[in-house]
Amino acid sequence: MGAKIFPLYYTRWMLALLIYLLAVLLLLFFLIMMSIYTALLIYSSLKGSPYVPTKSKIIEEIFAPAKMKKGDCLIELGSGDGRMLRYAVKKYKVSGVGVDVNPLLVFWSKLVAKAENLVDAEYKVENIFDTDLSRADHVYIFLMPELIDKLVVKMKRELKKGTVVISHGFPIKAWKKIQFHVYERRPFPTYYYRIK
Ligand SMILES: C[S@@+](CC[C@H](N)C(=O)[O-])C[C@H]1O[C@@H](n2cnc3c(N)ncnc32)[C@H](O)[C@@H]1O
Repeated sequence: MGAKIFPLYYTRWMLALLIYLLAVLLLLFFLIMMSIYTALLIYSSLKGSPYVPTKSKIIEEIFAPAKMKKGDCLIELGSGDGRMLRYAVKKYKVSGVGVDVNPLLVFWSKLVAKAENLVDAEYKVENIFDTDLSRADHVYIFLMPELIDKLVVKMKRELKKGTVVISHGFPIKAWKKIQFHVYERRPFPTYYYRIK
């Protein structure tokens, strides 16, 4: 009788232990992923701008004044989860590149672009100060004012005449004279500049 009960008791005990170990492993995995995610968010902030995505429902209004055309090149500096470039590629048939220092966000952007078969949307892990801007017809930024101030010199040097720079959130103070539009919206307005 005792010999018959023991294996059943033993099996249940083993099963409980296995479930417990699995739960611990899952929790550990979750904690590690959260730590990596948080560390990369802090890294983004340290590099000049925290990760705050542009609201999806206003992308259309943001891009409309830029009048993008099929075949134009859009460069997004600090591309986050890649939503802006993806939208422009789908809606306006532009091609372009999004760069971000956060590898997790770039990995995600690539994954979604691949899933949606958007071959014209390229994403790279790159510092905005290393990106070649010479072929851009449009540049989209949503960056902190201090980072924008540093970026102005590079944009002025590399962008060709006629390029439209869209700055969501904060104005490019030095470019007041070439600003041609502002989309007023709280909490973040959007400013538009055309290179002369
Ligand atoms: C406010 S978020 C904007 C994200 C995206 N453009 C959007 O509108 O949804 C700023 C992004 O810039 C990235 N970033 C910050 N400093 C950077 C740098 N020096 N070079 C490249 N990317 C940077 C951050 O990782 C973050 O994803």
